[in-house]
Amino acid sequence: MKEKRIEAFEEMAFGIFVHWGLYSQIGRGEWILHQDQIPIEEYKKLMSTFTAEDFKAETLVSLAKKAGARYMVLTTRHHEGFSLYDTRGLSDYDAPHSPAGRDLVEEYVRACRREGIVPLFYHTTLDWYQPSFREDFDAYLDYLYRSVEVLCTQYGKIGGLWFDGNWSKPDADWKLDRLYGMIRRYQPDAMIINNTGLDDRGRVSHPEVDSVTFEQGMPVLREQQGKYVASEMCLTMNDHWGYGKGDLHYKSPEECIRTLCLCRKAGANLLLNIGPMGQGAIPKMSEALTLCMGEWMDLFGEAVYHGRPAGILGEGEDFGLIGQDGSIYLFVFNLGISGNSHVTVGKRGSRLATFQGIHQKVKKIRWMDNGQELSFMQDAEQGMFTFHATGFDYGHQYVVRVAKISAE
Ligand code: GLC
Repeated sequence: MKEKRIEAFEEMAFGIFVHWGLYSQIGRGEWILHQDQIPIEEYKKLMSTFTAEDFKAETLVSLAKKAGARYMVLTTRHHEGFSLYDTRGLSDYDAPHSPAGRDLVEEYVRACRREGIVPLFYHTTLDWYQPSFREDFDAYLDYLYRSVEVLCTQYGKIGGLWFDGNWSKPDADWKLDRLYGMIRRYQPDAMIINNTGLDDRGRVSHPEVDSVTFEQGMPVLREQQGKYVASEMCLTMNDHWGYGKGDLHYKSPEECIRTLCLCRKAGANLLLNIGPMGQGAIPKMSEALTLCMGEWMDLFGEAVYHGRPAGILGEGEDFGLIGQDGSIYLFVFNLGISGNSHVTVGKRGSRLATFQGIHQKVKKIRWMDNGQELSFMQDAEQGMFTFHATGFDYGHQYVVRVAKISAE
């Protein structure tokens, strides 16, 4: 049995991650303090130039909305220790004390509410700024607890807490029962997520955790034991989470679309990252890529939100998902453009696509993008299903094409 919040999280399917902090002004990623061993007194000066003048929460959130994302995860505080929210006196190393003079988390939450996007909070547990993190861990844990308490009590209903950093002290007692217990008390519907990092993908780190993370790596379909746990892949658009001025290594729309589909094949969500620039502007490439995802989601989003794995597999990467109403969505990869062979460079114009694991008697199958009805053959007893996967109409190439078998 899936708990309600976990079910709702899976149904959101696609989220936008936002890494933004003082580091964004340097433009060399969110680890630059550590990477360049910048003395904290030096690094701290970034606060005096942080105006956030280009940060328009509304623009960012409506971009996520256009992409078909249903939730967002914002770095309310990253390892550098600076908070984008008003810590209400816990520390003056926060956005309201900077020239920005605003509670940026509040702006984010408000914009999310307006757009119908569910706001989640990323929060670091590792802190390079607070001396107590190194010198008095119990005092640090109190500070962390009270910080999270602010987030749980001052911003209305939130979608979840996304923690990151416990891997920095693997043997420490992080007093998670106390921290997670507090979240359950104030925000019973909030997801609790704890990033287990690059080396430990898909691990359940605590019984209260509701979704496991796959950082920069393809999720695998998990065998569930005990409590059902969701999964989520987080992915950078280039090779940095925080803004990387000199990082040109952007993924293509093709790769992002394929990855989203393959996440769903494994029953996982995709959390795709944007790293705004120093004062909050969105890099053009990230914006363009996000909008491309949106064009694809406009056509096939229904399959992504509603479809769940149910043992339907095709050839190569092809696969099927089943919706709650019994509809079946067949995802077909590597399809080309049908058209004159002198001009269309696609791989294969059209082909037969065969799937195993479909036992329902099929009446009709159609492409979701243009509604075209497709011919098929079936052996329901054997669960074999083959249909004529026609190529894209000249003028189109959607990377992955989805056909729907409506439930009768
Ligand atoms: C890591 C990094 C961090 C990033 C996160 C996103 O654990 O430390 O900088 O925020 O992964 O998944």
